[in-house]
Amino acid sequence: MTRPAVAETTAELARLRAALPGPVALVPTMGALHEGHRTLVRAARGRAGGVVVSVFVNPTQFGPGEDLDRYPRTWDADLAALAEEGADVVFHPPVEEVYPPGAAGVTVHPGPLGDVLEGAVRPGHFAGVLTVVAKLFGLARPDLAFFGEKDYQQLTLIRAMVRELVLPLEVVGVPTVREDDGLALSSRNRYLTPEQRVTAVTLSRALRAGADAGRHGADAVLAAASAVLAGAPDLRQDYLALTDPDLGPAPSTGPARLLLAARAGGTRLIDNTSVQVGDPR
Ligand code: PAF
Repeated sequence: MTRPAVAETTAELARLRAALPGPVALVPTMGALHEGHRTLVRAARGRAGGVVVSVFVNPTQFGPGEDLDRYPRTWDADLAALAEEGADVVFHPPVEEVYPPGAAGVTVHPGPLGDVLEGAVRPGHFAGVLTVVAKLFGLARPDLAFFGEKDYQQLTLIRAMVRELVLPLEVVGVPTVREDDGLALSSRNRYLTPEQRVTAVTLSRALRAGADAGRHGADAVLAAASAVLAGAPDLRQDYLALTDPDLGPAPSTGPARLLLAARAGGTRLIDNTSVQVGDPR
């Protein structure tokens, strides 16, 4: 097991990136790595000659009062995990390296899709995400970039950014990794108390119930998921939405996406699943 090379500056990253065999894959993360991140790195390893992982808690995607200050930072464990997964380069910059003082402050505007669902609850979040991801693409110049489907709206917007800004790379979405009981892995799961952890599994149960009701139509999907959520009154729902796979209006028949966000205590949880609406024939 070789320790990855660590770059703390953009200049070091450029030097290390230039020496990697292609194609080069980037896995952007905010650290606090879990099996979901490891799966992204393994997927990248399977497609790329060189794998760069960024570990950067991006301040611009956190709103006022959100968990920027207490977001888990587990650098030593992250580096050990990335060594085990065979990452070649880890980019671990201080904030000033990504957002240099005196910069003009150009950002990426996500368009209307950035204002719905997560964007409605977290104004400005996706501008922060797209801006840092665009910077990471510019710095690491990857041929491929890997993101989890757990953050489905993020993945959809990153795909749209790459398509509409004609960025020369392929975005690869990787299915959500779950605990045995169905809870989607998230760095924020560590905030949950044992009682909240029990409640948190309701999200994946609600999505499963919704997906299972797909053949009865869109209304049945939402009704089935809502019925499960109603059984967990200590879970405060932010939204439950059925859309098409690109987050447009839900189809009356065909592939769709069911997305859910809720709070268990002070912890916000999100999850989603694919749904086939209507008769699968
Ligand atoms: O999904 C995340 O961890 C972050 O939103 C990302 C893509 C690394 C950007 O900061």
